[in-house]
Amino acid sequence: MDPQLTAYLDAARPRQVDELMAWLRIPSISTLAAHKDDVMAAAVWLRDHLQSIGLEHVTLIDSGTQPMVYADWLHAGPDKPTVLIYGHFDVQPVDPLDLWQSPPFAPEVRGDNLYARGASDDKGQTFVHIKAVEALLRTTGRLPVNVKFLIEGEEESGSRTISAYVPQHAAQLAADAVVVSDTHIIAPDQPVILYGLRGIWVAEITVTGPAHDLHSGNFGGTIHNANQALAEILAALHDRDGRVTVPGFYDQVRVLSPEERAVLAQVPYGEAQVLADSGAPALYGEPEFTPVERIGARPTLEINGMWGGFIEPGFKTVIPSQAHAKISCRLVPYQDPARIEELVTAYLHQLTPPTVTIDVRGRRGAPAFLTPYDAPPIQAAARAYRQVFGNDPVFTLEGGGIPIVNVFQSVLNAPIVLMGFGLPDDNLHAPNEKFHLPCFYKGIRTSVAFLHEMAQL
Ligand code: BES
Ligand code: ZN
Repeated sequence: MDPQLTAYLDAARPRQVDELMAWLRIPSISTLAAHKDDVMAAAVWLRDHLQSIGLEHVTLIDSGTQPMVYADWLHAGPDKPTVLIYGHFDVQPVDPLDLWQSPPFAPEVRGDNLYARGASDDKGQTFVHIKAVEALLRTTGRLPVNVKFLIEGEEESGSRTISAYVPQHAAQLAADAVVVSDTHIIAPDQPVILYGLRGIWVAEITVTGPAHDLHSGNFGGTIHNANQALAEILAALHDRDGRVTVPGFYDQVRVLSPEERAVLAQVPYGEAQVLADSGAPALYGEPEFTPVERIGARPTLEINGMWGGFIEPGFKTVIPSQAHAKISCRLVPYQDPARIEELVTAYLHQLTPPTVTIDVRGRRGAPAFLTPYDAPPIQAAARAYRQVFGNDPVFTLEGGGIPIVNVFQSVLNAPIVLMGFGLPDDNLHAPNEKFHLPCFYKGIRTSVAFLHEMAQL
């Protein structure tokens, strides 16, 4: 790397962290209506920041439920490729708050890590590219390729606004590659390129027994408790090995070839690492698949929340009228979210005894994502990783989802480069989310190297 740029990046570190901390202080939780103004404030902050580093056409787009920010720099020349950088500035809720060592929106550096909600997912990882572009503009006055940014504020709640926007603005967003840093690598020296992500379908379930809560002394033994009925229904959704029992659930699932299983077997992420990163006492799930295969290539059905009856301190001897659950399915290629909704809904009704009624509301879905990893931009990313991390990336599948990547793939017809800089123990969606600062700094260098590699294509 150019010595002037290296010197710039070394000196810029404290300022880069300070700026990221300012963005992290804004509690932009997209799923909670009470934080609507904060999501907007995070967009405004980003717009002003992108303006200040010298990008052009900087626009706050307010065309739907949540805002987005667009910016570009298109002076590399018409013969040079265009890279579209995507990220998101909305974050997940922070409960349970008492488990945070420092408040989620009071960013704090402890050791090598920056702790805050959104530090890794995804303000920090998005900032990697912003700082890379800034460094190039400040030291050379230009970029090696044309660059567009489209950063959204609704990823954690389904990406509706951007999903409508992208097809309507295909020409404005046209690019030769889309780069997304919203995933994790395996270790600080082991980069990862993903060639697939899981999709998702979510639903809310309500089980209703008696018309209102009942005295358990007066009615206990004669009426089916709604909490119990819900627990019985939910417990029937898996077999003892963790396979989903919904009839037809696995019908469309892509079967891994022996060759692909061999590729995935190279990924240095096994049982011990899953246990260490999760803090769970033992592994669970389909025994005939490895952890990497289960996370990347097998669908799941999860119970994300369940509540009902009396949960305050003390005791209340009640038979609750209603019990509730939120469930979600992680989907793999080629499962269709609409078909999964039909199958799961029908099975939940079938499992419901005549003593209660059930209401199932499917909310939204996104299919899984899969891309061929021999595309030139993906190979350019692999070379960039190698230059900065000293190791070749492994190619694997991941379990999380990024709903917009399917839309980018089909509308822009450009390869999607899923180049993460987080770590498996970044505590995404959990208390004490953090970003490993060495990954932040290496990420910025990797982004610079990637833009240079793209210019060679
Ligand atoms: N950054 C994650 C996605 C992710 C996490 C991909 C880990 C790969 C590994 C993203 O912000 C996210 O959490 N997405 C949601 C999408 C959903 C709400 C539609 C998810 O996966 O739960
Ligand atoms: Zn994310």
